[in-house]
Amino acid sequence: MKILVIGGGGREHALVWKLRSSPLVEQLYCVPGNAGISQEAVCRPGDILSPSAMAALAEEVDADFTVVGPEAPLVAGIVDEFHARNLAILGPTRAAAQLEGSKVFAKQFLRDHGIPTAEFAVLESPEDVAANIDRFGFPVVLKADGLAAGKGVLILREAAEARAAAEQMLAGKVVGEAGHRAVLERFLPGEEVSFIVLSDGERYYALPPTQDHKAVYDDDQGPNTGGMGAYCNYAILSDEQRSEILARIVEPTLEAMRRQGCPYQGFLYFGLMMTGDGPHVLEFNVRLGDPETQPLLFRLDSDLLPLLEGAARGRLPDSAPDGAMAWLPGPTVCVVMASAGYPGSYATGKEIFGIDQAESLGAKVFHAGTKFADGRLVTAGGRVLGVTATGEDLPTTIDNAYAAVARVRFEGMHYRRDIGVKGLRRISAAFPEQGRSS
Ligand SMILES: Nc1ncnc2c1ncn2[C@@H]1O[C@H](COP(=O)(O)OP(=O)(O)O)[C@@H](O)[C@H]1O
Ligand SMILES: [Mg+2]
Repeated sequence: MKILVIGGGGREHALVWKLRSSPLVEQLYCVPGNAGISQEAVCRPGDILSPSAMAALAEEVDADFTVVGPEAPLVAGIVDEFHARNLAILGPTRAAAQLEGSKVFAKQFLRDHGIPTAEFAVLESPEDVAANIDRFGFPVVLKADGLAAGKGVLILREAAEARAAAEQMLAGKVVGEAGHRAVLERFLPGEEVSFIVLSDGERYYALPPTQDHKAVYDDDQGPNTGGMGAYCNYAILSDEQRSEILARIVEPTLEAMRRQGCPYQGFLYFGLMMTGDGPHVLEFNVRLGDPETQPLLFRLDSDLLPLLEGAARGRLPDSAPDGAMAWLPGPTVCVVMASAGYPGSYATGKEIFGIDQAESLGAKVFHAGTKFADGRLVTAGGRVLGVTATGEDLPTTIDNAYAAVARVRFEGMHYRRDIGVKGLRRISAAFPEQGRSS
């Protein structure tokens, strides 16, 4: 089969890398891709925000199936366009993608269906700000309604600061149009978990839990980024927590989407806060996470293609070994290596060295912001690489990932030294990694 992957970051490199190992795949295309992807697939330029341009590209390369990495094309309606042209694609329709495309929609959906989430108010005017700003205590969380590439959420410590930020957001001065409506919600203390499922509209598979590391510096200090690293380990959740997430959050969400005439097909990411009062939904993402995809797919033992195609056809395969998702036994860790200055402004064009040495240790170096310039591999983004490794347990896996990181270098590179360390604190005899299956 010929497969088209849409996007050009670390998540898409992991998708391309995993799909390339499928015996069913003859030819892989990626738009726009990056330097790493170009070594494993044919990269094509194109406007990924234009559903009709993407459908035309799929037709031109004669793609049998298309996989979408990022949210923006889904929210723009790429799946509806492909369906209208009878092209096979996996992902939610534009209507279903509102779960991520509008935080107001997501919060009202959660409330209407009794799915645990923080109490909230919708803000549309300065009067709404005045009437609600004190309602949830402090700190309080302010979220732009629309897509804001990770820059639309502010945590505010007191009333004056919160009021000013909310007024500015509604005036379009924080994230532009995306902030013309906003959600104000109660701050929930706890630990965050990324919980992703693959749904065919009717049935679903739960992927193992992962944790992202959003803050730029160790110990969750400094400004938020797109994600400085992630790890995957069953011990992130106890059996009870996992069952509670499935029963109180995942199943009611998929059921409600079906009842609304909008069965959800594709990956659905539940951003959860594990509070003293059980798991709560912070947000939905209508696609795989980045960087969570890198440690997840590095660990996936099954052929990915039949799973994606099955989900798109409304018929997830149901029996092992071809069907159910099988996972390699060890945990996985992905350390993101970023450009100097990121998440603020940064320079690009710095030559990158040492990837072969890192990979000779058994790691996989997924490319995010890279390109070839005059035959040299150079940086081309804030997040540059995702160095991903496995091992027999979490401490060994962390060591393996950082041993590979130590082989890579480019001017100004920085990375967190504590990816996965949260997980070490949780290791206990109660939730052994060994012997668990998904
Ligand atoms: N109600 C909340 N309580 C505490 N922290 C929150 C809350 N909502 C969001 N956050 C924090 O803000 C981050 C970003 O919020 P999220 O809803 O995931 O939006 P986005 O990913 O679109 O920026 C979360 O990962 C979490 O760290
Ligand atoms: Mg988020």
